Amino acid sequence: MKTNDKAIWNEIYEKENFTPGWVSPGTDPNLVRIIREHLEKTGPAGTVRLLDVGCGNGRNSLVAEALEGFEIRYTGLDFAEKAVGYCRETYGGDKTFLTADMTAPEPPVTETYGVIMDNGCFHSIPPEKRRDYTANLSRLAAPGGLVVIAAWYRPGDRPATDEPSYFPYLYLDEWLLNREDMESFFGGEFELLEEQVDREIYEGLNEGYAYFTLRRKG
Ligand SMILES: C[S@@+](CC[C@H](N)C(=O)[O-])C[C@H]1O[C@@H](n2cnc3c(N)ncnc32)[C@H](O)[C@@H]1O
Repeated sequence: MKTNDKAIWNEIYEKENFTPGWVSPGTDPNLVRIIREHLEKTGPAGTVRLLDVGCGNGRNSLVAEALEGFEIRYTGLDFAEKAVGYCRETYGGDKTFLTADMTAPEPPVTETYGVIMDNGCFHSIPPEKRRDYTANLSRLAAPGGLVVIAAWYRPGDRPATDEPSYFPYLYLDEWLLNREDMESFFGGEFELLEEQVDREIYEGLNEGYAYFTLRRKG
C-alpha cells in the first residue's frame, strides 16, 4: 500500500466502523467557536457556504447546526469514498458530500466558500503535494473568506522537517505544524490571523492541537 493513499483511509474507516479514535471529541467545539466569532464580526447577509475539507465521517457537519442563528449551507469533501458514502447515509437534509482529492490538479468543485474548515486533513498531506492543496484552497476560498486549518502543533523547539513526526497507523504519516510553517505554505494568497493551541482536546497525543485561522486575500 502507498503511504497516505486514500486506500489507507478507506481501510481505517471500514475497520473501525467509521468511528476511528480521532472522532472522540465529537463535533469540534473550537471550530464552532472560531467560526461563530468570525461570522459575528463580519455579519454575513444571507447564506454562508461552508466547506469541510477532509470531512471524514462527517462529525463536523454538525458545526452547521451548532452555528445557530446563521444560515449555513454545508458541503463536505473527502477522497475516501467509503467515508463519503457513510456521510451520505448518516447525515440527511440538504448537506452535500463529495468524493474529491484536495491535491488533484483540477479544483474539486468550482464554487467558492465563505468559510472553509480542515480538521486534520492538511497535516497528513505530504510535502510534495502541499502546493497542489494550497492551489485548490486558493481557488475554493472566496475573497475575504475565512479558512480554519486544525493540525498537530509543532512547538518552536521541534525542528521543521520534511520527515513526518507522527505515525497514527501503519501507512499513515502526519506532520506537526506551527504558524511559521503555515505562513510559508499559505502566505501568498492568505493572511494568517491567528494560531490557537488546545492541549486538552487530544490529551496525551503529540504536543497540542493547533487551529490556524487564515483570511483569503482580495
Ligand atoms: C484525520 S481525518 C479527519 C476527518 C474529519 N475532518 C474529522 O475531523 O473527523 C483526515 C481526513 O482527510 C482525508 N484526506 C486526506 N488526504 C486528502 C486529500 N488529498 N483530499 C481529500 N481528503 C483527504 C482523509 O480521507 C480523512 O478522512
